[in-house]
Amino acid sequence: MKLSVIGLGHVGLVTAAAFARWGHEVVGYDIDPSRLEHLRKGELPYYEPGLQGLFDEVVEAGRFSVVDELWETLVGTEVAFVCVGTPPLPGGGPDLSYVEQVGSAVAEHATGDVVLVEKSTVPANTGRRLEHVIAREQQRYGSTRRIDVASNPEFLREGNAVEDTLHPDRIVYGTSSDRARDALREVYRVVVEEDGCPVVETEVATAELIKHASNAFLATRISFMNAVARICDRVGADVDVIAYGMGLDNRIGPAFLRAGIGYGGSCFPKDVDAFAHLAREVGYEFDLLESVRAINTGQRDLVLRKLESELWHLSGKSIAILGAAFKPGTDDLRESPAIALAEQLLERGAAVRIYDPVALNEVAKILPGAARFDDPLEACSGAHAAVVATEWSEVRELRLEDLREHLAHPVLIDGRNVFDPDAFIEAGFRYHSIGRRSVPAI
Ligand code: UGA
Repeated sequence: MKLSVIGLGHVGLVTAAAFARWGHEVVGYDIDPSRLEHLRKGELPYYEPGLQGLFDEVVEAGRFSVVDELWETLVGTEVAFVCVGTPPLPGGGPDLSYVEQVGSAVAEHATGDVVLVEKSTVPANTGRRLEHVIAREQQRYGSTRRIDVASNPEFLREGNAVEDTLHPDRIVYGTSSDRARDALREVYRVVVEEDGCPVVETEVATAELIKHASNAFLATRISFMNAVARICDRVGADVDVIAYGMGLDNRIGPAFLRAGIGYGGSCFPKDVDAFAHLAREVGYEFDLLESVRAINTGQRDLVLRKLESELWHLSGKSIAILGAAFKPGTDDLRESPAIALAEQLLERGAAVRIYDPVALNEVAKILPGAARFDDPLEACSGAHAAVVATEWSEVRELRLEDLREHLAHPVLIDGRNVFDPDAFIEAGFRYHSIGRRSVPAI
């Protein structure tokens, strides 16, 4: 099939490459001309394990190309996927103006009948709004093309995006016509046949809500465990063992129960807010989600308080932050707890020494005041304390003796619970973790 992918960010690029791998002919477009230029040279705009190989393969096979104008992607296309950004607005809802612009452009430029598929995470009812925009614009341009709107949320995780897309847990699409449903069946036919993954066929608003509810639920699990960790700190219990014990219950399962410095990224924080905002708009106060958010930001403050408890005044102190990305496997710093912590430390007059194996270029752009290191021990060198903010394997594998040798003081706040508390405490470290054994606060 001839497919268009509009927006070549974390979702669009991987999706486009996967479609091409499944044999479709894919044409991509992005509003950022420099991104297109880099892609033409074979350079990816961000770090994502396995994507370069897949990208090179599909470009070489002639099944993926990019164009400079949105209308060019629409020439002869059967299905157009909207993968543009939906950044948060100050009130908590997402900015859907890019989605609207794509709807207008499709109404104006489609050269045949098209199924227009939302893949960006959007609130329920966006499908209906898009239909309205398209009808309005078609009237303006006198277009009689048939444009069906569908929703096909993605569930890929950054850092695992290629694997998640090529071998999905499930495929969900919501359509309001047989034609759109059949087109999406054909888009995914290869992966469904090869992988046998379940498919949820439903209507548009339900598909949109499956995505919102899934992300909000995963964020809720994390915040729940972070709240449990607070109790553990007070009663001397171990949150990791509790998560293990809970996860053995088939009804609960082990995933997304890791307590720590909190969730970040471009999805959970934004989606929790957007879902609460949507609920409010339709007359329901989803208080649970407000708590999920408050618990999450509280985790960063907790780490800061632990540092203050150890070092007293932070002004003039030097703190190593081990990991900048919001999680391992990505250079994405959006809503990263590490960055939020670094900003608070800088505000308090501390010197920040930040380590990350892949995200330092991004760190330079948003935190020019922080010293950057591509070696975790160098970041620790002479520091008053270190904080584990991202559980990169390079951080997990650090040896206690080396940390001891490099840090000016053996103070370690393990914000991701990666080290063995007993070993560190017995070795004389002022070791704190989240909801596990820690030294008593001063
Ligand atoms: C998330 C969802 O997992 C994807 O299914 C979804 O498609 C995506 O959002 C999206 O909406 O586009 P992602 O943000 O890439 O994916 O990252 P996750 O692996 O879900 O991690 C999110 C955050 O939660 C990270 O900061 C991670 O460190 C944190 N986390 C995760 C925990 O603190 N504890 C856990 O047990 C698991």
